[in-house]
Order: sequence, then structure tokens, then C-alpha cells
Amino acid sequence: MDRLLKPRPFLIFCLICVFCLLWSTVRFAPVSVTWVSEKKSSCKPRVNVVFLKTHKCASSTIQNIFFRYGDAHNLTFVLPYERNYLGHPLPFNHKMIPDPSRFNRTYNILAHHTRFNQTEIKKVMPEDSIYVTIVRDPLELFASLYSYYELDKAYKLKLENLHRVSLKTFEYKLTFKRLFRKLGLNQMLFDLGFSPNSFRNLKAVSDFINYTDSVFDLVMVAERMEASLVLLKDLMCWDYNDVIAFRHNARNDTNKNNLPPKIQTLIRHLNTGDEMLYQHFKHKLEDRIREFGEDKMAKEIIELRRRTSLFYKFCVKKEMPISKAQVLKEKTHSNVITFLASDSGGNETCNRMINRELEYTDKLRFKQRDMYHVVKKKTTSKKSRPLNRTQPSKITVEKNYHSHQSNDKNIPASSAVDPKTRNVHL
Ligand SMILES: *[C@@H]1O[C@H](CO)[C@@H](O)[C@H](O)[C@H]1NC(C)=O
Ligand SMILES: *[C@@H]1O[C@H](CO)[C@@H](O)[C@H](O)[C@H]1NC(C)=O
Ligand SMILES: *[C@@H]1O[C@H](CO)[C@@H](O)[C@H](O)[C@H]1NC(C)=O
Ligand SMILES: *[C@@H]1O[C@H](CO)[C@@H](O)[C@H](O)[C@H]1NC(C)=O
Ligand SMILES: *[C@@H]1O[C@H](CO)[C@@H](O)[C@H](O)[C@H]1NC(C)=O
Ligand SMILES: *[C@@H]1O[C@H](CO)[C@@H](O)[C@H](O)[C@H]1NC(C)=O
Ligand SMILES: *[C@@H]1O[C@H](CO)[C@@H](O)[C@H](O)[C@H]1NC(C)=O
Repeated sequence: MDRLLKPRPFLIFCLICVFCLLWSTVRFAPVSVTWVSEKKSSCKPRVNVVFLKTHKCASSTIQNIFFRYGDAHNLTFVLPYERNYLGHPLPFNHKMIPDPSRFNRTYNILAHHTRFNQTEIKKVMPEDSIYVTIVRDPLELFASLYSYYELDKAYKLKLENLHRVSLKTFEYKLTFKRLFRKLGLNQMLFDLGFSPNSFRNLKAVSDFINYTDSVFDLVMVAERMEASLVLLKDLMCWDYNDVIAFRHNARNDTNKNNLPPKIQTLIRHLNTGDEMLYQHFKHKLEDRIREFGEDKMAKEIIELRRRTSLFYKFCVKKEMPISKAQVLKEKTHSNVITFLASDSGGNETCNRMINRELEYTDKLRFKQRDMYHVVKKKTTSKKSRPLNRTQPSKITVEKNYHSHQSNDKNIPASSAVDPKTRNVHL
């Protein structure tokens, strides 16, 4: 008995060593592995990119990837003077942003909401820019749009009751009397710059899809997110860590789309144009995955998943509902989920990954304050305008441009809703 109770320094020392080793392996090893980036010599990383954000297609999640990359490499962003929209429903116009040559800069990244106009975008973006966008199953998209922006209130109709009303009237309203003049049927075609006047002209839709296909280097598919991210990494010649994505601006949704089949069919019919667009790019993505190699893709997805999960554990303590203050500032939904930084918070990479669109946009505008004259305290609206009144203000041009153009007869305002109430996300 005595012998057993006697302290044995060597044994204890060994136990402590083993414990420490195990602990450090568990605690640090996976994280440190994460930061090693692979070297690619065969291609040169691309820095010029246009990402067309589409509503309710997980585009905030992808946008964060471009924010991070441009921020880390000190690239120049095309930014709106305030908040997060470049026009819309007005198509993009170069007058909406500062002329970069006045600031001895050239633009590298356009990743904010706008309505696509290739001619105008080409005026400000370098010739070798990569064009990327994302599509989603139109049924899911429309159900999500309807719920997120509370279209049931604006149009006084629950989707469940769609079969009880005149489909023609509903189609007319959600095509031409769009909410905030932005939101309604065939949302992807609308964001891509297609005119609602031609939604029912299937030949025109088909030609437009053909045209879109010729412009965009990659059209991601929300239902195939991981494969899309791997293809993006490949296209941009970036690392895995560059395309890690946490789900941004997701709603804590209990009422996922479980509409009756009859209603689903009606919704698909109403979004025929988007359905054609989606099917085209879904098949195209499948072709590209085959070209890439299905086995290679499967392996790369596993690696991407592994790293995403490591970063998630390292950066995020938990997900939680958005704060009241943020709801007010962003004019967004109260059941949007945000990330609470883990104790490793303060790590710049983590901050970038969990930063929300509006905050991040403010930060980027501040980095480009030579162009935007913002002051650090700032954030919303009025204060982010140029402070230097003696300078011929760009804002004047922009304002005139807006007031001039907003008489656009093709896109009547929704009479039901105040356009200022909710114009922010996804
Ligand atoms: C970006 O700019 C910051 C601040 O000027 C600088 O510290 C950093 O090294 C720059 N990063 C790159 C990749 O140029
Ligand atoms: C403009 O930028 C280039 C390199 O980015 C630099 O060589 C040049 O001196 C700059 N010109 C002015 C007027 O700042
Ligand atoms: C796109 O821009 C070009 C050039 O400014 C203009 O001619 C054209 O009408 C624009 N398209 C739309 C749909 O606004
Ligand atoms: C687009 O249309 C042109 C002819 O106008 C045709 O040659 C081309 O193959 C089409 N592209 C696609 C992707 O359908
Ligand atoms: C999501 O909502 C459920 C039920 O309302 C709630 O219990 C849960 O905590 C919420 N999760 C987050 C991350 O907000
Ligand atoms: C984030 O933390 C990791 C691990 O501690 C470190 O290697 C990395 O440099 C940090 N990144 C930044 C941008 O600070
Ligand atoms: C305001 O703009 C004018 C003209 O560009 C310039 O001369 C002046 O230094 C600027 N003042 C400040 C405070 O930036």
C-alpha cells in the first residue's frame, strides 16, 4: 500500500506531458493546419471581378467572399455613396459612382446590388474582369422573397390562397407594380437587367439567357453551393480559404416553403422566365462539374467542408438573432441570424468572415475615403456624403441622375408600400 501511495515524480511528469500533448493537439493543431494555404504556380490569382448580386439567392454569402479578398489585398471596390445599392431598379450607370481616375485608382471589384447593364459596367471595370452571379430554384426563391419582404402584406394575399384569386391580375401586379419597384416575379431576370415587358416573350427570354451565358464566366447555383465555390476557387485561381463561406443573412426560419403542390405549380408558371434561366444554368453547372472531374470535385468539396468547419469553430461562438439596434440600422428583419465572435475574436480573418454587409460596406468606404470623404464615426445615410462642400460634389451629379431617371415609366412604383421602409438585404 505504501508503495502505491508514494508519489512517483517521473510517472506524474509523463502523465502531464501526455496530457499537454493531447490537449494542444486538440486545441491548436486543427486550427494551425487551417492557415496553411496551398501554393498554386500554374495560374495567376485574378483580382478584377464583377459579382452580380441576385435577390434571395444566398448572394450575401458569396458577396462576403469578395469583400474579404478585396479587403485583404487592398483592392478598390465600386461602392455606392451610401448604404448598399448601386441604383436598382435603375440599371447600373457609371455616374452612380466616383470616377476612379480622379483618385489615381482603378476599380477591381463590383459586388453590391445593382441591375446589370454590361455596357455601363464595362466603362468602369477592367477589361479582364471575371463575371460571376448565382441562381436559385425559382420556386424556393419566390417563396423566400415573398416571406422575407412580407409581400403578403403589400399585396394583401397569402401565397396559400393564390388559387383563389385572378392569376392574371396577380401576375400583372407582381410584374409591373413591383414592391419598391424592385421585387416581384422573375426576380433573377429582373436583377440581370431583363425588362418585365418581355417576361412572357419566351423567344426574348431564351435569347437573353443566351446573352447572359456569353457574358458571365460562372453562374453559381445555390442548390449546388459547395461545387459552385470550388469552381469559383478554380476560376479565380484562389485558395480554399478564400472561398470559405458562412451562411450570411439567413433567417431563422421555421416556416420553410411547404406550400401545397397546386400552389407550387402556379408559382413555377408565374416565374416561367426564371425557370428557363435556372434550368439552363443548372445544366451548365452540371456539365462543368463533369468537365472538372466528379472525383476531383468530391475530394475538393470534402477539403472545403473541412476548412469551413475549422474556421467556423475558430471564429464563431454561436449564432444568435440580430440585435434590435442592427435591425433599425439595417432596416432588416428581426429574425435574421448573426454570428457572435468566439474568444479568438479580434482575429482579422474571423472579423471579415462574420462581418455583415452594411458594416463591412461602411468599413470599405472608409478605406476608400479619398473617394468618398467619409468620416470614421459615420455609418448611415447623410453623414457618409462628401464633407468637402467646396469641391464640385459628385453627389450632385448622382442625385440629379436619380431624380431625372426615376420617372421611368416602365417600372411604376408600388402604391402599397413606402419604398424607404425595407430596402436592404439579399
Ligand atoms: C494593405 O494596407 C494595409 C494598410 O495600409 C497594409 O498594412 C497592408 O500590408 C496592405 N496589404 C497588402 C496585401 O498590400
Ligand atoms: C498614381 O499611382 C501610381 C501607381 O499606382 C503611382 O506611380 C503614381 O505616382 C500615382 N500618381 C499620382 C499623381 O499620385
Ligand atoms: C445600358 O447602358 C447603355 C449605355 O449607357 C444604354 O444605351 C442602354 O440603354 C442601357 N440599358 C438599359 C436597359 O438601361
Ligand atoms: C446563342 O445564340 C447563337 C446564335 O445567335 C448561337 O450560335 C449560340 O450557340 C447560342 N449560345 C447558346 C449558349 O445557346
Ligand atoms: C431560432 O428560433 C428558435 C425558435 O424561435 C429559437 O429557439 C432559437 O434560439 C433561434 N436560433 C437562433 C440562432 O436565433
Ligand atoms: C488569425 O489567427 C491565425 C491563428 O492564430 C493567424 O495565423 C492569422 O495570421 C490571423 N489572421 C489575421 C489576419 O490576423
Ligand atoms: C476641398 O476640395 C478642394 C478642391 O479640390 C481642395 O483644394 C481642398 O483642399 C479640399 N479641402 C479639404 C478640407 O479637403
